[in-house]
Parts: sequence; C-alpha cells; structure tokens
Amino acid sequence: MRLVIIGTGRMGQTLAQVSLEKGHIILAHVGRITSEVLQSINADAVIDFSHASQVLAILEVCLERRIPLITGTTGWYEHLTEFRQKAESVSTARWLWGGNFSRGIALLKVALRSLASVPWVQLPDWEAALVEVHHHRKKDAPSGTAVELSKVFPLTKAIYSMRIGEVVGEHKLLISGPGEEIEILHRAHDRRIFAEGALWAAEWLFQRTYFVGTFDEALSSGLDK
Ligand SMILES: NC(=O)c1ccc[n+]([C@@H]2O[C@H](COP(=O)([O-])OP(=O)(O)OC[C@H]3O[C@@H](n4cnc5c(N)ncnc54)[C@H](OP(=O)(O)O)[C@@H]3O)[C@@H](O)[C@H]2O)c1
Repeated sequence: MRLVIIGTGRMGQTLAQVSLEKGHIILAHVGRITSEVLQSINADAVIDFSHASQVLAILEVCLERRIPLITGTTGWYEHLTEFRQKAESVSTARWLWGGNFSRGIALLKVALRSLASVPWVQLPDWEAALVEVHHHRKKDAPSGTAVELSKVFPLTKAIYSMRIGEVVGEHKLLISGPGEEIEILHRAHDRRIFAEGALWAAEWLFQRTYFVGTFDEALSSGLDK
C-alpha cells in the first residue's frame, strides 16, 4: 500500500520500519502537520500515531479526499461523539480508530465479555482487580486500555498502575475467591504488535467502501470472513 504516516515518535518510527519490511511504500512521514502537508495528502491510507490536537484536522482532510484513515492516537475521546457524527455524515467515509491495536488485547476483551456474563452476585466472596504495568515514560495512569478492560469486566477493586523501566505493556486481571484465584495476563513484548495491528487495519479498511468504527469492531467483523 502507499501510505502516509503521521507521527515520528516511538510509534511512528516503529510503524515506518514495519511498513517497509512488509513491502509498503511510505509517500510521506511527518510529525507535526502543516496546511502544506494536509493539502498534499494522497495515499491508499493514512495512519496517525501522533497527538490528540491533530486528530480532527487529519480526519477532515481524509474524509474530503476519501482516503482511509487509521487513528492510533489517543487522548481525544471526549470528542468522539462529535467526530463520529462528522464521519458518519459522509457516505464515503473510511475511518477506524483504537487506543490499542494489539490483537491479543482484542481477544482478551472477548474472554472478559464471556466472564462478565457470569452471575457474580451469586459469588459474593470473589473480588476482581486489574494490574497494569508500563515503561516509566508513560504519563497517563491508569492506561486507556485498563480503563477499557474495566468497562468490559466490572471490577470490585481498583486498577493498580505501575510505571517502571522499559515494560512495553502488561495488563492482568486478577479474580480471587476463597482458596483459589484466576489470573489472565496479556503482555506486549514489542510495540511492533501495534504497528502490525495498524497495518492489518489499513489493509482491511482499504477493501471497504464505508466504515466508521473501532479496531475491535473491524477485527471481529474481519474474523467473520
Ligand atoms: N493505538 C495503539 O495501539 C497505540 C499504541 C501506542 C501508542 N499509541 C498512541 O499513539 C500516539 C503516539 O505515541 P508515541 O509513543 O509514538 O508518542 P511520541 O513518541 O511522543 O510521538 C508523538 C508524535 O506526535 C507529534 N506531535 C504532533 N503534535 C504534537 C503536540 N502538540 N505535542 C506532542 N507531540 C506532538 C510529535 O512530533 P514532535 O516529534 O515534533 O514532537 C511526534 O511525532 C499517542 O497518542 C499514544 O497514546 C497508540
């Protein structure tokens, strides 16, 4: 695919490397957008791993030019309803977003949905907590992924966050009852998994005529085929 990558930080660099390894062509790779960059965007897909302040401008230009857009950038979800409505009003829109492009986390959510359907009220002695561990540069706590997981599986205890060293990302659900416990752990070994998820999403979106939705929705619909 002919790609435009926005974001030259840790994720943008990893994505560029993985894209080239997989034979994609990078037409442009920028960190901060300018009106000049926006006016010249023309590609099979745009993948954005940059900053929340840029999301709307990139979305608008992609909608106008009918270019599939994958938004991996986080921190803008308070505008989700507004941005979503804007995209849904365009019949040719192809826009997919997500705060975690790991396919393992998407599978973990499937498992948690199933566990959440248990009548926990009949197990009053059981408690559930989430533990998330990330590298020391990560500023937000708890992680967006931990918050999302806690919405899928309601916790009786808190989300516990740890920031240490170079840990790419760990999310562990701990469910504890009298005399026994269950641990469900997802560990990201390398941020390449997010880049690979984004490229999977770009290829999936490129084949659609219309889609406005999340990575998880695309993945579950992709698995149907
Ligand atoms: N969806 C996923 O699976 C996933 C996985 C990992 C990370 N993320 C998200 O992807 C985004 C990028 O992560 P990262 O680790 O690559 O971040 P990063 O290393 O800090 O890079 C941020 C990039 O955004 C650019 N940028 C543009 N406007 C900016 C502004 N106002 N303030 C700061 N930076 C700005 C930076 O440009 P300069 O270099 O000029 O500063 C840089 O190119 C974040 O939102 C992160 O949460 C998503």
